[in-house]
Amino acid sequence: MALPDDKPWTVPALADAKRAGRRLAMLTAYDAVFARVLDRNGTDLILVGDSLGMVVQGHDSTLPVTVDAIAYHTAAVASHLKRALLVADLPFQAPAPRLLQAGAQMVKLEGAGPHKLEVIRFLVEREIPVSAHLGLTPQSVLRFGGFKVQGREERAAAKLREDAQAVADAGAALLVLECVPTALAQVITAASPIPTIGIGAGPHCDGQVLVLHDLLGLDGGHRRPKFVKDFLAEGGSVAGAVQAYCAAVRDGAFPDAEHAYQ
Ligand code: KIV
Repeated sequence: MALPDDKPWTVPALADAKRAGRRLAMLTAYDAVFARVLDRNGTDLILVGDSLGMVVQGHDSTLPVTVDAIAYHTAAVASHLKRALLVADLPFQAPAPRLLQAGAQMVKLEGAGPHKLEVIRFLVEREIPVSAHLGLTPQSVLRFGGFKVQGREERAAAKLREDAQAVADAGAALLVLECVPTALAQVITAASPIPTIGIGAGPHCDGQVLVLHDLLGLDGGHRRPKFVKDFLAEGGSVAGAVQAYCAAVRDGAFPDAEHAYQ
């Protein structure tokens, strides 16, 4: 099947991309103008992440983000998209249909506990496409005791492998893997029937995602994770930075070992 390099991405096309070995370039956006630049410069998926709590609202975590805030930013981002598939984060206890009404084509949900798997099944049975999110799930930052790499010990790695299978079995169409060792993300990706999107998960995922502010080298006053790379320096403009990022994701140049955890 032809992949949508010039037409809008769809949920089934994500599985076609995995089968074809076509890497997916994903970025976050929170407003119409940046979303337009991302969309017109090669970004395949755009995420209205609850990272907006940290990079737009100035909080220290994503926990205070409400569904109203995600819906507001989703509507703004949706307004100019022609090609990218729009994913919206489900904050705590949020009603997913709100985000589809705002223009999202998929919602992202963190975790794989029994309740989360039930929610994934509930949404998928009601025709709402879901992206799962495992590893360092920022909504669990209190339980983790900080933003820490997950799955380093064998027991935790085994649990992550099991969880990745469980979210796919529950019907998720995409899996974000955040801050997990490269070798573990590689094993999960090889076994996963759905595309994986890495952030701090090494080069072997089926695609990558980066927070827009990190791509542009903006300092939000938080500790800069190892996987962050400033593409503005090499891109020369916002559009150039997006193009450089998408090209580096597609040809496998990003992330390199310097931007990954072993
Ligand atoms: O909220 C967000 O931006 C995210 C990405 C970091 C994957 O979940």
